[in-house]
Amino acid sequence: MKVTVIGAGNVGATCADVLAYREIANEVVLVDIKEGIAEGKALDIWQKSPINLYDTRTTGSTNDYEKTSGSDVVVITSGLPRKPGMTRDDLISTNAGIVKSVTEQVVKHSPDAIIIIVSNPLDVMTYQAHLTSKFPRTKVMGMAGILDTARYRAFLAEELNVSPKDIQAVLMGGHGDTMVPLPRYTTVGGIPVTELIEKDKLDAIVERTKFGGGELVKLMGTSAWYAPGSAAAQMVEAIVRDQRRVFPVCIKLEGEYGIDDCYLGVPVILGKNGVEKVIELDLNADEQELLQTSRKHVLEVMNVLDNNS
Ligand code: NAI
Ligand code: 2OP
Repeated sequence: MKVTVIGAGNVGATCADVLAYREIANEVVLVDIKEGIAEGKALDIWQKSPINLYDTRTTGSTNDYEKTSGSDVVVITSGLPRKPGMTRDDLISTNAGIVKSVTEQVVKHSPDAIIIIVSNPLDVMTYQAHLTSKFPRTKVMGMAGILDTARYRAFLAEELNVSPKDIQAVLMGGHGDTMVPLPRYTTVGGIPVTELIEKDKLDAIVERTKFGGGELVKLMGTSAWYAPGSAAAQMVEAIVRDQRRVFPVCIKLEGEYGIDDCYLGVPVILGKNGVEKVIELDLNADEQELLQTSRKHVLEVMNVLDNNS
């Protein structure tokens, strides 16, 4: 299996590293527009292989998409990250241009690829890649839900002093402050989380999760990469190994949850064909209202994209 990661910055390089050392693909190609950066990082990852014992061939390219030809999966991380004081939506015009041009190259060189978008604003960049590629919606998806859920699970594990491995959770909606964590679907070793934690503490964790990206931007002056890069690699793994994992993934909704006009995170089954199935949960009235609020927010940013193009 051949996987291309576009954008050799913090998230892209981390993703390529995880793909390589976990031998998720036989071949990983890293691409960046900045001269030499992708080649250098790919070489560094390759030179780590005798130490960490893997044989994934990792190469880099400065904007030469011939080298990406025939990729099975392409991860798009190219674009500006957030700086303190910026929202993800502030990135829209610059990143939309980048995602559009990069997607055109992907379509030309890897017409059968499955595309995973990471660039922000995530839901709208997924829209952009879908518009540009004209691929079926099941083959163009965004990574955010795995990351946001991981943050929620990590905070819960810390509070409950249990292994994060035992926390299962679902989170829906857009990748922003209107995301919808779902405590009703959160369990700890199969036990509903609401039986193990007081409501005010759970509410505080839900709030911290919604602003989890911003917390890191404030600390580091740029956005996170270890968890985002690993989350994107986990989606690639589910696809190339046909694992049929159940993950929250951003996809164009076509009637699911009563929504047919918006790109939002929802639980799906991820396998060799991309999104194999969208899972429809039986949301209660409060949860539906939160999802609609998230939809409205994403639609507003989609409109900005429509008006700019
Ligand atoms: P970064 O600045 O470290 O890396 C971005 C890379 O993209 C740079 O190396 C840049 O040269 C490259 N690039 C720019 N234009 C390009 C083009 N036309 N072709 C190829 N490469 C190009 O940024 P970082 O931290 O890696 O973040 C990347 C994107 O991912 C940002 O938009 C960020 O907001 C987003 N992000 C999304 C997350 C999510 O959960 N969906 C989580 C974390 C970041
Ligand atoms: C994050 O959530 C900024 O989307 C980026 O870390």
